[in-house]
Amino acid sequence: MSSEKSTKLWGGRFESPASSILEKIGESISFDYKLYKQDIRGSKAHARNLLKIGILSQDEFDSILEGLSRIEVEISEGKMKFQPELEDIHMHIESRLTELIGNAGKRLHTGRSRNDQVGQDVRLYLRDSIELIQKELISLLEVILDKASGSVDMVMPGYTHLQVAQPIRVSHYLLSYFWAFSRDFETFQNVRNHNDLTVLGSGALAGVNYATDRNLIAEELNFPKLSKNSIDAVSSRDHLLQYLYACTQTMIHFSRICEEIIIFSTVEFSFLTLPDSLTTGSSIMPQKKNPDLAELIRGKSARVQSSLNHVIGMVKGLPLAYNRDLQEDKIALFDAEEQVLLSIEGVREMIRGMKFRPENMENSLRKGFATATDLADWLVSEKKVPFREAHELVGRLVGVCTSSGKTLFDIEPEKRKDISEFFIDNKYEAAISLSNSTDKKNVPGGTARIRQIEQIDEAKSFLNSARQSKS
Ligand code: ARG
Repeated sequence: MSSEKSTKLWGGRFESPASSILEKIGESISFDYKLYKQDIRGSKAHARNLLKIGILSQDEFDSILEGLSRIEVEISEGKMKFQPELEDIHMHIESRLTELIGNAGKRLHTGRSRNDQVGQDVRLYLRDSIELIQKELISLLEVILDKASGSVDMVMPGYTHLQVAQPIRVSHYLLSYFWAFSRDFETFQNVRNHNDLTVLGSGALAGVNYATDRNLIAEELNFPKLSKNSIDAVSSRDHLLQYLYACTQTMIHFSRICEEIIIFSTVEFSFLTLPDSLTTGSSIMPQKKNPDLAELIRGKSARVQSSLNHVIGMVKGLPLAYNRDLQEDKIALFDAEEQVLLSIEGVREMIRGMKFRPENMENSLRKGFATATDLADWLVSEKKVPFREAHELVGRLVGVCTSSGKTLFDIEPEKRKDISEFFIDNKYEAAISLSNSTDKKNVPGGTARIRQIEQIDEAKSFLNSARQSKS
């Protein structure tokens, strides 16, 4: 090749080399190097097909496999020098292969396009990534379950509108996140069902001019289903969108629990404390103990959501089939994956290390009239008062308490009697008791103690089958 001509692997028809802006804007090796293992796995499967259909001799095949394995080691040991002029991971591996084994390396790209190649690599990558995220989610679920099992007998306020609503058991609160994260686990599993597909053999967009044995490739990759349409195979990013949605859903759940950890650890709430090791101090205010970890994860949830949005925007209105816009879908993928993995660990460690302060939670329950509904329900069931009337009577009692700075627990009997004789009944105390209140919510999924035991059992069996499905 003369020096003025293009030196690219695709440069045959070009009279002049690529301009520097094209090189700068077009390189993806700075991020898609992360696909090297998957690219090599895909290339090995493709090579086996080339051997079967007579494009490669046994010797050539053997040296390709050996060369690819060597390149995998080189990259994993940081020995490959990435060069922007080689654009992407696919070109890097192919050109290194030719450097190592000569002409046989030049045969590898027969009947393949980078369009189906990168499509396959990403699907392989997503499969591995989902496995990893699911394993991490399992360890988070284990920690929550453990914490919930130890907090069945602690009562805290449940909120609506961030105003004290009703007493709930702390286990019930924690398990609500157990089920949210278990759905994240399942959502990732559903993504697998769409993701695990063999697209190699689709070529640039129309299929290939060789008798490619797609079933053989599918077997090699352990992706039993074949894509049905080569155009769709190289253009669709639905599986990636679904993965990014699963990441976003997980992060939304994290951002909610993080927000609560932040609120609950303020002086005003003082419901829980985080261990020193998970909090930071201030360079100016000596008293500060800040929940940065929770704040960072809350912030990262926005970042992951934008990765989803990035790919949504990218594919919207994109004509079929492959367009270069798609190259940067991997930036969204890698960043979302990294943030989710960091966040799972962060949330897990905060839950593991948090200490509840039951006396403060009970105090809020009393000050927040958390058992007012129970008192009204008691009037209904024991005193046969119509609910609307019971609501009115208890509302008046709350009003009197509020104006005299009292709670349902310490308001004087005379003042109670002024509103209703029922309020000096000897069952009054039981009707407003915090733990009685929880135990009366004895429906499946309710906050009663026996329902907690039941729920913990259900959570255990979810975890067991999740673990089994991943072993
Ligand atoms: N680096 C490219 C990507 O990730 C590979 C596919 C290139 N295809 C092409 N027709 N230029 O999208």
